[in-house]
Parts: sequence; C-alpha cells; structure tokens
Amino acid sequence: MIFLLSVLTFLTSGALATPVTVHFSDLVQLPEYATKAFTLSSSPIVELNLSDDEIAALARKLHTSRNRCGGFVAGESYAPVVQKSLNDHIPLKLTRQPEVLALLPEAQEANLKEFILWFSSFKTRNFSTDSGVKAMHDLADRWRALVKNVPHAEVTLYQHTDWRQPSVILKFKGESAEEIILGGHGDSINTDSSDPEALSPGADDNAAGIGVITEVIRILANKNYRPKSTLTFMAYAAEEVGLRGSMDISADYAAKGIPVKGVLQFDGTNYKGSQDLGLVLIDDLVDPRLNTFLEKLITTYLKLPFAYDTCGYACSDHYSWTYRGFSAAFPFESRIKDENPHIHSARDLLSVSQDNAYHAVPFVRLGLSYMLEMDQ
Ligand code: BES
Ligand code: ZN
Repeated sequence: MIFLLSVLTFLTSGALATPVTVHFSDLVQLPEYATKAFTLSSSPIVELNLSDDEIAALARKLHTSRNRCGGFVAGESYAPVVQKSLNDHIPLKLTRQPEVLALLPEAQEANLKEFILWFSSFKTRNFSTDSGVKAMHDLADRWRALVKNVPHAEVTLYQHTDWRQPSVILKFKGESAEEIILGGHGDSINTDSSDPEALSPGADDNAAGIGVITEVIRILANKNYRPKSTLTFMAYAAEEVGLRGSMDISADYAAKGIPVKGVLQFDGTNYKGSQDLGLVLIDDLVDPRLNTFLEKLITTYLKLPFAYDTCGYACSDHYSWTYRGFSAAFPFESRIKDENPHIHSARDLLSVSQDNAYHAVPFVRLGLSYMLEMDQ
C-alpha cells in the first residue's frame, strides 16, 4: 500500500501527469482524489493532475459511483469554463431590501392555482403531440397578454430543428445585454404508456413551475419594473426526453457568447413532500455560489426551513446551463426521497396537493427576490 502510494505520488507530481477537469460535485464521492485537487477559487470546476492509470481508475470510479460513462475532460485545462466561472457575477450582499419587501406580498395563491388547473387541462404537453405544441403557443399568448403594456418586453417562440414543440422566451430588456434567467420545462410525459398521446396532466411536473414563473412575470409587469440587466423567462420544450429544449438554447447562448449572470430552474414547486421543509436546494451539477446567494434570499425574505439534497444525475434543465459553463441552481419542492410519487403519470393532478397552490407561493417570492437582487 505504502509502495503504491509513493508510486502514485511520483506519477502525479512528475511530468507524466495530465490535467483532468471534473465537476466538484463528483469529487465529493471520490475522496481519494480530493487531496490532489487544484481548486480554482470557488469555481464548480476542479482540476487534477493524474497519471494514465489514475485517469482509468477515475473513469471506473465514476462509472460505479455515479452510474455514468466519463463526465470529465482530460488533456486540457478547460480554461473557457473556468474563466466564465471566475467572473464575479453573483452579488455577495443583498442591497435592495425595501424594493423586494414591497413586491413580496403581491404573490397570489389564487393565480397559481388557476394557472396550474389551466396548464394541466391539456390532455398532454408531450413534446411530440399536437396538444403539446398548442400548449406552448397558448402559454406564449398568456405571457404576451401579461406584458402588453410593457414596451421593453418581448415574447418569442423558439423553434427547435428536430421537433415541433417550441420553447417560449420572454425578455424584459434592460440597459445592459447581461441576462438573469428564470426557467422551467413546459412539456409533460406519461411514462406508464408508450403512447405519446396518453393522459399526462403534469400539474406538479411542471405546470406548477411555469405557474410560478408566470406569476413573477405578472408582478414585474404590473409594477412596470425597469431592469438594468435583461430579465429572461423560459418555458423549455422537450425536457422529459433528455433536456433537449434547454440544451439547444444553452448551446445558442454559448455560441453567441451572451453574458449570463445566473440561471434558476423551477421544476416541481407545489408538492410538500417533506413536512419539515419549505424548500430544498439541489447541490449537485449546480454553481455552489448561486446556492449561497439563494441561502441569503431564503433567510432574509422567505424565512422558511430549507435543506440541501442531491439529485445524483442530470435531473432537470439546470444541467444544460451548468454543462456549458454558466452558473445555475435548482431550488426544489421537497427532499428527493419525499418526491411526489405521481409525476410522469395520469395522476399528476392538483388534487394531489389538496387542490391548492400554497406550497408554490414562496417560490414566487424566491423568483422575485432573485431577479431584483441579481439586478444590481
Ligand atoms: N421533474 C423531473 C426531475 C425530478 C424528479 C427532480 C424528482 C427531482 C425529483 C424532471 O422533469 C425529469 O423527469 N427529468 C428527467 C431527466 C432526464 C430525461 C434527463 C428524469 O429525471 O428522468
Ligand atoms: Zn420536471
């Protein structure tokens, strides 16, 4: 063992080492690599110098511990991603308390409930169906109606090349091109059936998340809020079939070099599975600095108990942004083990949440305070 360790030390300290970059969340499960990690400030990307044998061992480890092939980059130091991660785009202090506190009481449970009932009344929002296409067009019409008196607001349908269901994007244009993004998926799925037309109301997954986003839009539009950065709201197509809509969009942002301060994902906001918690911050495949910022918003504005939990895989659209090197976070409705057992079925209805949307109200407050406090 001692012999092996000294061989490893020799290999990793010498010229035979290759730079390998991994996401820090993988390192948590690989403690033997942690001591070799070269951390770049608080970036989510961590660099290791490993020998060929160690790289092979890392691949095996990630395969068994994360049930995944690869997921790290060898042979280059991944500079663009690290560079982007090091930008100081996440505020360290909250500076707009009076304005935020004035907005918070505007969040209405009745609006959330009405929205969830409406969006979950499409037979399905499956990405490959006519009603899945219509649901997104009708959502764009609703968002347009909400901002009809806001001259700097614009709603667009984002057409994807490989399927018909569009994503919906709304922007409140600011003085700068920098964007603050809030998104969730608009599509739904019924995994009990192979028929794409099978009933899939998706009330919690994810009419509730899009309802929260819609309520944030309504409140900002009614107050005629004039942002400094551009505030962007997204309902992604085709999440349930491999994060396909958000992957297209994040690729576009990366290719165009659009500066993004942060991306928040709302996917599952109205099922109170963990009785002791108001919400949960997902801690893997996200930017931990954005979670630290959300913690400040929760303690200052929501004053609700929260915990951290791990999805364990690329469980929602936040990953499409993390994957391209943007800062993303995912506040969720419950601990993963307490998750709504009816999602992805014909039973994902508002009745599962006692026909009300009270659990989703704090997510509106989180979305509003995130938008305003990032916009400084
Ligand atoms: N809302 C779920 C993800 C989720 C479920 C998060 C339970 C936390 C707890 C999401 O819509 C989903 O189903 N995602 C897919 C992702 C896959 C297609 C890449 C999944 O988890 O299978
Ligand atoms: Zn979902």
